[in-house]
Amino acid sequence: MGKVRVFRCRICYDPYIGEEPPSRCPFCGAPARYLIPAERWDWSEHKIEISDVSRINLEAALKLELGNTAFYLCAMNAAEEAGDEYSYAKFKALKKVENEHAAVIAKSLQIEEPPLEEIPCSKDSKENTQEGWEREDRAIKAYSKFAEEAPESLLRQFFSALVEIETDHLALHAENLEE
Ligand SMILES: [Fe+2]
Ligand SMILES: [Fe+2]
Repeated sequence: MGKVRVFRCRICYDPYIGEEPPSRCPFCGAPARYLIPAERWDWSEHKIEISDVSRINLEAALKLELGNTAFYLCAMNAAEEAGDEYSYAKFKALKKVENEHAAVIAKSLQIEEPPLEEIPCSKDSKENTQEGWEREDRAIKAYSKFAEEAPESLLRQFFSALVEIETDHLALHAENLEE
């Protein structure tokens, strides 16, 4: 066993203990390059004035993330009821990551995270995988645009990281749809 260290995610700010950073942040799904040694953490890099355009885009992103969290929660419960352990695990992981995204966005907007609204889903995991794919596709398109529009380099980085993360999710759904 090697020596463990503390890392911290530049996208969701959460800490992680391990020998090396994992390939994806376990909380928000950001790629390993965003996990930095905790000793190097510097809040001054994260305290920024948010422009009007980015505020509007963060509010839209929060809506998308809350909707996707609620959808994956429904899909997770449907899979559990159907005894489909793989889909249960997948939708549970996605629900946690999207909820983390909503929490980070609410924090940067300095608002309380709004409560989840109930979103209906299918009883069938394949249909939910198809809807999940469509939701990720919409999120990727929105965040790509938000990244381009952001005057703040920190928010360009944030939205670009979300694009990468949701692209992972899209690829996962696409793979499952082929099976
Ligand atoms: Fe993270
Ligand atoms: Fe997300």
